[in-house]
Amino acid sequence: VILEGIVTTINDDGGVNVSPMGPLVDRAISQLVLRPFKTSRTFANLQRAGCGVLHVTDNVELMAHAAVGRLDPVPQMQRLPAFNGYVLTDACRWYAFKVKQILDPTERATVECEIIDRGVQREFFGFNRAQFAVIEACILATRIDRIEQSEIREELKRLKPLIKKTAGDRETRAFEFLKNYFEERWAE
Ligand SMILES: Cc1cc2nc3c(=O)[nH]c(=O)nc-3n(C[C@H](O)[C@H](O)[C@H](O)COP(=O)(O)O)c2cc1C
Repeated sequence: VILEGIVTTINDDGGVNVSPMGPLVDRAISQLVLRPFKTSRTFANLQRAGCGVLHVTDNVELMAHAAVGRLDPVPQMQRLPAFNGYVLTDACRWYAFKVKQILDPTERATVECEIIDRGVQREFFGFNRAQFAVIEACILATRIDRIEQSEIREELKRLKPLIKKTAGDRETRAFEFLKNYFEERWAE
């Protein structure tokens, strides 16, 4: 099963990269397989540093900002003791992992990872449809160069009622942020 999360990795200058990633996991989350595009910074960092931290969060606003690389302000995070990785403060759970093997036959690599530490920071809020709408919009945002504008507009129109019906402030802000991102990019 795929678990939509956020992965932190270490850049070559020591900074922290924060990107949504959907690894393949088992239900117990005893191991994970990441599928990063070879063009992604996450892939380069995994290859170089050989480790990272996967986060599960209900904060879709954080996911939206990370998806388009506009983390302003940079989210709070803490370095793990004795591990070259950073934990996002506003994550429900985290999994520190080491890369075991990288297979890269296609445009997406298969990165097999071993979980070496994990933690629970707070409870998961639960589901609402607006969260899923924001996650879907995040996916569209990361594919803006590959999907027709008209198709994205159709999708956003379809997702909008889910925001209207079930969003809280955070989901509303995240959806608006992504809509503005699309308009800005299309105007370029
Ligand atoms: C929910 C979600 C899941 C994603 N899963 C993946 C993934 O498994 N592999 C991938 O390469 N990109 C995935 N993406 C897209 C990346 O987050 C996006 O391309 C990002 O810009 C990569 O950032 P980076 O270059 O800093 O690693 C996902 C995006 C979202 C919103």
